[in-house]
Order: sequence, then structure tokens, then C-alpha cells
Amino acid sequence: MAKISYVNGSYVHHAEAAVHIEDRGYQFSDGIYEYVAFYNRKMVDADLHFKRLERSLKELQITMPVSIAALSIIIRELIERNGREDGGIYIQITRGVAKRDHAFPKNTKPALVVTISASKLPSAELISKGMKVITQPDTRWARRDIKSISLLGNIMAKQAATEVQAREAWLVDGVNVMEGSASNAYIVTKSGEVVTHPATHAILGGITRDVVLKLARANKIHVSERVFNTVEMVDAAEAFMTSTSANVLPVVMIDNRRIGSGKPGPITLQLQELYAKHITEQTGKQF
Ligand code: PDD
Repeated sequence: MAKISYVNGSYVHHAEAAVHIEDRGYQFSDGIYEYVAFYNRKMVDADLHFKRLERSLKELQITMPVSIAALSIIIRELIERNGREDGGIYIQITRGVAKRDHAFPKNTKPALVVTISASKLPSAELISKGMKVITQPDTRWARRDIKSISLLGNIMAKQAATEVQAREAWLVDGVNVMEGSASNAYIVTKSGEVVTHPATHAILGGITRDVVLKLARANKIHVSERVFNTVEMVDAAEAFMTSTSANVLPVVMIDNRRIGSGKPGPITLQLQELYAKHITEQTGKQF
């Protein structure tokens, strides 16, 4: 089945999907995105993703090109046309086409692109063994809460990780651990407390993060949304990351230092199971 994508009102063959060279997304990274998982053709936490999408647009003064109801129909149609049961939906909205100038005209027509891809879920082996992370300096701008397509800091850090066969780079600002290049970062202290950076302007408030913290609290796991540093990180009993594409993934090695026992810890595994159940409830997908 040929891959079909959505571009500004049309469903087109993916190979022919294109935007104008003066789209401000192309020239300035002037735009935002969302990535939503789906299983059995049903989206996971669509409402939360759409809410974040609207917030990102508002922060950058970009108008929503279609209603959320219309966007949901486009997504459903695209899943059908691509014949995929499980996968990811990439939604990108840029400010649109304008003559190149840093300041933006008020009347550009925002561009909407939606693509569907195969699920990027890590292998069962990685999920059960846990993964390797490296730390990298956080070189990003100060509004990391906006899911902007401007991702140079993220991609350079992820590339550094990939080159040493690590799955993710944890971004460190001074001595503080902020988040991963495309995920949120957590430690579990020796007293069993889950610690993660608070959802300020300094990190992206992950949807998976929101759900996992809620599930943790509902299951009487102690949670502390506070800044933690690299000393606490290497001294932790457990570590893990969360994202839409990886769900809850144990971290067992950071910068070649073993975390805790070097195996996925009990609290991480409990949260992994709770989150899998959360997806099953919404979509029927069994893990
Ligand atoms: N990345 N932090 C950053 C910097 C991210 O890019 C992401 C998501 C997250 C986790 O957010 P969520 O749980 O809502 O996926 C945190 C997505 C998957 C991406 O870049 O494709």
C-alpha cells in the first residue's frame, strides 16, 4: 500500500508531498509539532496532545489552521488510507509562506502537514534489559515547553548518543538534569521516590510524563517534581525515561556508570505495567 500524507487540504502520495521553499517552517523553524501514538487505529490520549498543540500555537501566535474536530477526521482518514493498525501520527503546523523576514506578517495562512509512520516502540529485549544513556550539555533556547520544530540542540545531543550506541542523551544544564533529547528523564531515589524535573518553561511537559505521574500517585508511589543533579543521578536506585514513542523505558547505564543493580528496577517495572494498561484501556492493544 502506497504511503499517503496530508498536506494543506490534500491527501497525496508521500513521495510527492511538498511545501513551498518560503514556508517559514523551512526557513526559520517557525512552527510546532505533535507526535501521537495509535494502536488498533485508536489514538492514545488525543485530548492531551491536542491541548498541548493548541498551547504551543498560542505561545507562538500561530493560528490553528483547522478545528480539532477537523484534525481528528484528517487523522482518522489518514490511518485508514495507510492501512496501519499501530503507529505514530506526526502533526506539523508552521506559520506558512511569506517573504523572508524575521518579523512575521500577521496574515499568513498556516501550513498543516500530517504523516503516519510505523510504531517506533523499542524491542522487547531493550524493554526488558534497560538501556544506555549519555549526558550532554543542554544548549537549547529558554522556551523548551513549546513543542517547536526548532530542534538543533536536541538532534545534536541525540546524534552524540547514537554514535556511542546509547539510546538517548540526557540534557544537563550546569549540574541539573533537565530531560532527554526526545523524552522526559526520571530517577528513583534509594528511598523509593520518583524524581523528575518540574514542568516549567525549561523542559517539554510530556504527555506520557503527565499520565505516568498521575498513575504513580494513584498507586501510592511517592513522586517529587523537583530539579535533580548529576550526583543524585548516578547515586539513584533506578532510572527511566518516558515518551510517546517509547512509553516507559528503563535506564540502567548512564555515561558508562551502572545505575542501581544495573537491571530495570521494581518501581520502573510497575510504572511500565501501569502505563501499558493505560494504553490497553484506551485502544485494546495488548503488550
Ligand atoms: N518527543 N521531551 C522532549 C524534548 C521531547 O521531544 C519529547 C517527545 C518528550 C516526551 O513527550 P511526550 O511524552 O509527550 O511524547 C519530552 C517526541 C516523541 C518526538 O520528538 O517525536
